[in-house]
Amino acid sequence: MKVSVTRRAHFNAAHRLHNPAWTDEKNREVFGLCNNPNFHGHNYEMEVRVTGEIDPDTCMVVDLAWLANLIKNEIEVRFDHKNLNIDVEEFRNLIPSAENICLTIWRILRGHLPEKFDLHVRLYETPRNSVEVG
Ligand code: NI
Repeated sequence: MKVSVTRRAHFNAAHRLHNPAWTDEKNREVFGLCNNPNFHGHNYEMEVRVTGEIDPDTCMVVDLAWLANLIKNEIEVRFDHKNLNIDVEEFRNLIPSAENICLTIWRILRGHLPEKFDLHVRLYETPRNSVEVG
């Protein structure tokens, strides 16, 4: 029987959605306020869910303190209080939409998680809007 454990985490970051292949007009039309030339911020909330068998010795799926540390070191340190477009290598050539941020988080964490676990990441860009990967 598989069991899921979830850790919530948070970061604040600025971004701008802009496709350089398009005219300014089309960018404004598609991305609206998120195309603001001088960037804007969001309070991002994420839920990282790890699914697997309960370890018979620890009686845990995964140590949540270990998961919390992983998220802190790999995601919060990278993204918190950053301008995603400028400060974060992963978004130099990738539009930092909620979808791409969530996918990037998933890829980074996946690389640190043993293969036997399933990984699911949900990212809230606002309390009402979220995206999911995994
Ligand atoms: Ni935005």
